[in-house]
Amino acid sequence: MTDSNDAIAVRFDAVRLDRGGRTILSGIDLAVPRGSVTAVLGPSGSGKSTLLAALTGELVPAAGRVEVFGQAVPQRQRALLELRKSIGVLLQGNGLLTDLTAAENVALPLRAHTRLPREVIDRLVEMKLHAVGLRSAADLYPRELSGGMARRVALARAIALDPPLMVYDEPLTGLDPIASGVIMNLVSELNDRLGLTSIIVTHHVHETLPICDHAVVIANGGIVFSGTPGQLQASADPLVGQFLRGEPDGPIAFDSARRTEAA
Ligand SMILES: Nc1ncnc2c1ncn2[C@@H]1O[C@H](COP(=O)(O)OP(=O)(O)OP(=O)(O)O)[C@@H](O)[C@H]1O
Ligand SMILES: [Mg+2]
Repeated sequence: MTDSNDAIAVRFDAVRLDRGGRTILSGIDLAVPRGSVTAVLGPSGSGKSTLLAALTGELVPAAGRVEVFGQAVPQRQRALLELRKSIGVLLQGNGLLTDLTAAENVALPLRAHTRLPREVIDRLVEMKLHAVGLRSAADLYPRELSGGMARRVALARAIALDPPLMVYDEPLTGLDPIASGVIMNLVSELNDRLGLTSIIVTHHVHETLPICDHAVVIANGGIVFSGTPGQLQASADPLVGQFLRGEPDGPIAFDSARRTEAA
């Protein structure tokens, strides 16, 4: 591996992604530097979750290559499972198991992927809950947690195995501005304190940009912007402008099915 490869955590090279026989994204080139926080922005249905699916190996590219830490995302099941241990995922929705306590939810990946003794797992769980400010909520069930707290428990579970790469899919959905601020601060803090690389998929532009080093906007089947948050705010591109201002009319087709019919 060369030095320049070492500096890149995730690389997309001329990637095309199809779903249900339809091309969702094409010509995707992206290099995410180690240690950085990258926002992947774009309207609903533009393919943000699809992009993440290629990163975690759930979706095999129709063309091109996806690399994580210098290694092509494998297709063989065992190699894929190994790679996934190095990617912490906070899914759209929390995915907490409702009949387990917060602590038991955080312990799940440790039980599944390590052979650590019970006391060590308990201690690690305590540390992870502490990292998201919820040590006192260890014995609560998901129904006893607020939305913001549940999201933090899910975050503690995502970092349970100390993955070097964190991927967040819409981490702010359903949260009020204060809870959103708490989550975004945590994402940023964890990234810096633990030396992670983070990719945040969201349409919450204004909450997300302040903690990002890099922003990518996807729309109309590809990347329409890639640069710093400052460059994004200053962009004169009408597509980017429409997205940032949340306008229904403009170069982004917000209802692609209807547009196809009308054409
Ligand atoms: N399993 C699937 N089979 C077929 N088509 C799919 C599948 N999953 C997603 N799609 C299609 O792919 C496109 C992109 O979906 P995706 O979920 O990646 O969008 P998104 O940007 O994450 O949207 P949102 O912001 O609403 O989460 C959509 O048109 C969707 O209908
Ligand atoms: Mg999505």
